[in-house]
Amino acid sequence: MTMRLSVFGTGYLGATHAAGMAELGHEVIGVDIDPAKIERLARGEVPFFEPGLPELLRKHVESGRLRFTTDAAEAVDFADVHFIGVGTPQKKGEYAADMRFVDSVIETIAPLLTRPAVILGKSTVPVGTAARLAARVREIAPVGEDAQLGWNPEFLREGFAVEDTLRPDRLVLGVDTEHPGRIEEVARQVYADALARETPMVVTDLATAELVKVSANAFLATKISFINAVAEICEATGADVVDLADAIGYDARIGRKFLGAGLGFGGGCLPKDIRAFMARADELGTGHALRFLREVDDVNLRRRDHVVDLAAREVGGSLNGARIAVLGAAFKPNSDDVRDSPALDISGRLHLAGADVRVFDPEAMPNAAAIWPTLPFARNAEEACAEADLVIVATEWKEFRELDPAVVGAAVSQRTVIDGRNCLPAQAWIDAGWRYLGLGRYAS
Ligand code: UDX
Repeated sequence: MTMRLSVFGTGYLGATHAAGMAELGHEVIGVDIDPAKIERLARGEVPFFEPGLPELLRKHVESGRLRFTTDAAEAVDFADVHFIGVGTPQKKGEYAADMRFVDSVIETIAPLLTRPAVILGKSTVPVGTAARLAARVREIAPVGEDAQLGWNPEFLREGFAVEDTLRPDRLVLGVDTEHPGRIEEVARQVYADALARETPMVVTDLATAELVKVSANAFLATKISFINAVAEICEATGADVVDLADAIGYDARIGRKFLGAGLGFGGGCLPKDIRAFMARADELGTGHALRFLREVDDVNLRRRDHVVDLAAREVGGSLNGARIAVLGAAFKPNSDDVRDSPALDISGRLHLAGADVRVFDPEAMPNAAAIWPTLPFARNAEEACAEADLVIVATEWKEFRELDPAVVGAAVSQRTVIDGRNCLPAQAWIDAGWRYLGLGRYAS
């Protein structure tokens, strides 16, 4: 059944969700306060890099099933279900999440609700937020109790956002247990396509739905920091963390995914979500329960220090004047996102320490340059590596994994590579005469 949906917020989450819902057959209107973003989206242009999204967006802008506006009243008038997909970034100088964008969407749309409507929050929020917002909506919406709010967290990964939206591995819906209303019925209609494929759907209370999201990200961050902590031990003993991860990963209870040791996690979600989770636990008087996440954060950040120290050691002790190629600026491949990117962090630190850094990334250089305008960028990997004393692979883009070590070897002045993502075929590089340093493996 075709439904009329609005999506507030058109960043990575909102724009992908809007296009995905149109693909499922719904009529969708995307809303944002940024007119420049809306203008581009309305022309069928995606303002960020996400594989598959430009095609999907254009298809549905052309079919007329998807349109964009800055006018909240137009969207509320058009749609019966309103998704909230705005950001909840880390507050400046604090661990807690900044809720101002979510609050502002509620304050904007609730007073406009003059007929029954369902609001489904997708943004990652501190536990307790949805109950507060549900009460606020009932209080200020002209339809009162017929304006209902549920929480429907999103688990999409950048780089796979379209796939994760169209074919999610699970759906989670938080319902206000005292005011269940039509929320579950409406959500089942919206996601009829996924449900017909027997996608599991967990229907629960609001607090649990909010906690599912942060717990999932805290678990993933912990898994990465676990293997990176073991990498530190491997470095002290000459053991190999990649073989170790393969071996423990065969245990189905452990699994090999997210055991990639290297420069650690970054991006717009994992780092800020574990910090907001800790901040919320402190507010609830249960800070002790999540104290280990502080350690998870520290292990993660120590990997960046380690690569900078390793780089200094490899160029003879002082970074000042050393020519260093950094391949990668995005926080992970298939993304142009540089938020809390380990790759960009180490580039900036090497640059500030006086190194003659040349950074190349296939997609993220405009975003990287906006944050670090003084960093020198190269036009391609070859240019970055020319005459380099050291090459650091900081993001595992396919084109870096497939570099020919002989060709790169002919361009550099010193054949030393730090594989910050343990993504290169180590033996091929060693055979081509390189000193190869993985993280948690081979003499690192
Ligand atoms: C994450 C969650 O996976 C997703 O479910 C949630 O909705 C949003 O946050 P994303 O931030 O897109 O998604 O990236 P993800 O693929 O989880 O990677 C996060 C970081 O961890 C990246 O910097 C990546 O390089 C790093 N990582 C991942 C590792 O260092 N090792 C690994 O084994 C896996």
